Amino acid sequence: MTKKFSQQRDLFESERSFRLLVEGVADYALYMLDPKGIVTSWNIGGERIKGYSPEEILGQHFSRFYTETDRANGKPARALGIAREKGRYEEEGWRVRKDGTFFWASVVIDPIYEDGTLIGFAKITRDITERRNSQLKLEAMQKQLAESQKFDALGQLTGGVAHDFNNLLMIISGSLHILKKNAADDPKLERATSAIETATKRGAALTNQLLTFARRQSVNPQAIDFAERVAAIREVLLAGVGSSVRLAFDIQSDTWPIKADVSEFETALLNLVINARDAMPEGGTVTVRARNVVLNETPLAGDFVAIDVADSGLGIPSDVLDKIFEPFFTTKPIGKGTGLGLSQVHGFAHQAGGTVKVASELGKGTTFTIVLPRGIDAPSREATGAAFRGSGTVLLVEDNPDVALVSIGLLEQLGYQVRRVADAEAALREIESNGVDFVFSDIVMPGKMDGLSLAHRLRQIRPGLPILLATGYSEVAAGVRGDFPILRKPYEIHELSEAIAKLPR
Ligand SMILES: Nc1ncnc2c1ncn2[C@@H]1O[C@H](COP(=O)(O)OP(=O)(O)O)[C@@H](O)[C@H]1O
Ligand SMILES: [Mg+2]
Repeated sequence: MTKKFSQQRDLFESERSFRLLVEGVADYALYMLDPKGIVTSWNIGGERIKGYSPEEILGQHFSRFYTETDRANGKPARALGIAREKGRYEEEGWRVRKDGTFFWASVVIDPIYEDGTLIGFAKITRDITERRNSQLKLEAMQKQLAESQKFDALGQLTGGVAHDFNNLLMIISGSLHILKKNAADDPKLERATSAIETATKRGAALTNQLLTFARRQSVNPQAIDFAERVAAIREVLLAGVGSSVRLAFDIQSDTWPIKADVSEFETALLNLVINARDAMPEGGTVTVRARNVVLNETPLAGDFVAIDVADSGLGIPSDVLDKIFEPFFTTKPIGKGTGLGLSQVHGFAHQAGGTVKVASELGKGTTFTIVLPRGIDAPSREATGAAFRGSGTVLLVEDNPDVALVSIGLLEQLGYQVRRVADAEAALREIESNGVDFVFSDIVMPGKMDGLSLAHRLRQIRPGLPILLATGYSEVAAGVRGDFPILRKPYEIHELSEAIAKLPR
């Protein structure tokens, strides 16, 4: 019994345990190749990851783990070449299991030398498909987050601008009313006022699109029957596409009602149809489709209606695709495009609790899909606003003196006596000391109490007193939806009259 014997035994033991270790590792395929790439050893990890038993794989060439394309391109031989030249080969890529399925592999190949001669390669392969998938998912989520932050920032900016604009338009359109009365017998004045009127309406429409994009439009979601709505605005859509483009409909008869704001919905549809027309200068067909979809995605889960507006036009280049929903982004010549159409569509779809998607192929065409939540209530008919002449005293709560002047003018034209105060506290005092028949208040006001708090307060202390709120935009308005009627600024006299007529008394 010598030292030598015990050394040999130790060596034998350690080799044995090393082999057991390698063979038993299940998370890595650890195996040897001979210098030509023939598999000479195999472990349980190899069997688990790639699906071959040792009997099946020993003696086979390792190129069978590669995809057909990689094999055709000579990738396996190249890998061995690099390992030999550089002392190591490392890569991530697709590999093929015995059953033909792919997995994303992390691969390391080391050349093994004995006395200076290459005797083969040690190969380590890991299946990192899951890691890669979660990495990709994470990247997608980060992209989505960045996207939504971008839209939030843009929304804040545009929302602020649009709000101020609306107050200006309110003054213009209101004052116009007074001018128009005097212009009746002067054709020149009449032309001028009607030009102002048209421009104001256009301005209001644009600000409206901006507000929608900023999701600060006070909306009134209701159940909409798609087919019925489309029939109602068919003429407008036809005028939108013009004569060289055909408009086709493919609406499933069992399409659920949609829950959204009607006028925003119509604007969005028109925006998409007009874009489709612009994309087909040579003519073509715009197809409007509607179908039910059940989604199981975050954040969209449940019953939805998907509305496609598809054209066979120019398509959208991929570097443009990222920007099309941004306000003021347009590829159209000055005077033709405002860059607000898709911004409106985007804001509308999201505020309605849905989304908008786009698929486009250059030269083939583009399909925009608006996904909107299913509406549950039966479609309701819009109340008709008959001409209405009022009487009584209204308390106007408005901080902006110019807007107040205009509103007083409109209210007086409708036959009301108007008392005006500049803030909510003054309004409460006024109501205490003198009775009024109803209150018409702006929502956003300086001071401790805004129009909304005033309305809630009045509901407590004067439950029978009708209240009408007005706003250029308001995020608060979304919160009170249904609690109090809200009039959108800028409003015209007939809209004011209708809103007052509808007040519960
Ligand atoms: N159906 C479409 N086909 C091709 N490009 C489109 C389509 N719809 C929108 N686009 C692109 O998106 C841009 C922004 O559209 P939009 O916001 O409606 O503004 P505008 O129509 O005023 O340019 C367009 O200028 C155009 O480049
Ligand atoms: Mg457009």
